[in-house]
Amino acid sequence: MTSPAVPPAAHPERRAASGQEPAGPRHVGIIMDGNGRWAKARRLPRIAGHKSGVESVRKVVEAAPDLGIEVLTLYAFSSENWKRPEDEVGYLMGLLKQYLLSEIAELDRNGVRLSFIGDYSRLSPDILALLEGAKKRTAGNERLRLVIALNYGSQDEITRAVRGIARDVAAGRMAPDAVTSADITARLDTAELPQLDLVIRTSGEQRLSNFLMWQAAYAELVFTEQYWPDFDGESLRRAVEAFGVRERRYGGL
Ligand code: FPP
Repeated sequence: MTSPAVPPAAHPERRAASGQEPAGPRHVGIIMDGNGRWAKARRLPRIAGHKSGVESVRKVVEAAPDLGIEVLTLYAFSSENWKRPEDEVGYLMGLLKQYLLSEIAELDRNGVRLSFIGDYSRLSPDILALLEGAKKRTAGNERLRLVIALNYGSQDEITRAVRGIARDVAAGRMAPDAVTSADITARLDTAELPQLDLVIRTSGEQRLSNFLMWQAAYAELVFTEQYWPDFDGESLRRAVEAFGVRERRYGGL
């Protein structure tokens, strides 16, 4: 794979120093957590929480552009989620399929460009076909970039990137000492996306859980007690507001 050029804005130091820093976050990642607990609190099966979680996805996708968000990355299925009971995994995949089938026309109409990160090549052929179709159909849209992380794990992503570099070094295309952090950034699934500014996690947990760990080096983290199915456009607005009052120094003074 060739390394795409790293856009200047992907370097936090450069972006801050150049005065390009916008007031709000351009790229927001969300760890959508608490579907199961939301359902349990209502004596419903866990899958009811996931189903309701799709409504929250709709709400944040609708609200994001007006909050100045250009890229929204959602952690929909982690590389560790395969450990869940088979029927829950099947239900989550079904929900994703249904979301893409039923929402794609509206997403397209609303100027949403879809892309996917993770080792999603391992998903079933029918889902892969849907992903490819959604990417192609929305490729020209510019209002919001919606990135869905599927079979995604940061450690896996970084391992794949490092393997690519190791191959280049072994083939003599790169000198070991010439490898920089920018070379790793350029080989991540997110290479062509702007720097991650804000990570939101719902449900009171305060961990990154293998989500965009490299990319989150300088991101602000906002944790909310709300379960994902209770999260909506107003919750997103509050998280963006919390971001606005933080002072980002990128290691400087
Ligand atoms: C975490 O809640 C949530 C997930 C593992 C899945 C998230 C998926 C969706 C919201 C629906 C499909 C997504 C799209 C983009 C259409 P949990 O089950 O870990 O909750 P718990 O910690 O309370 O058990």
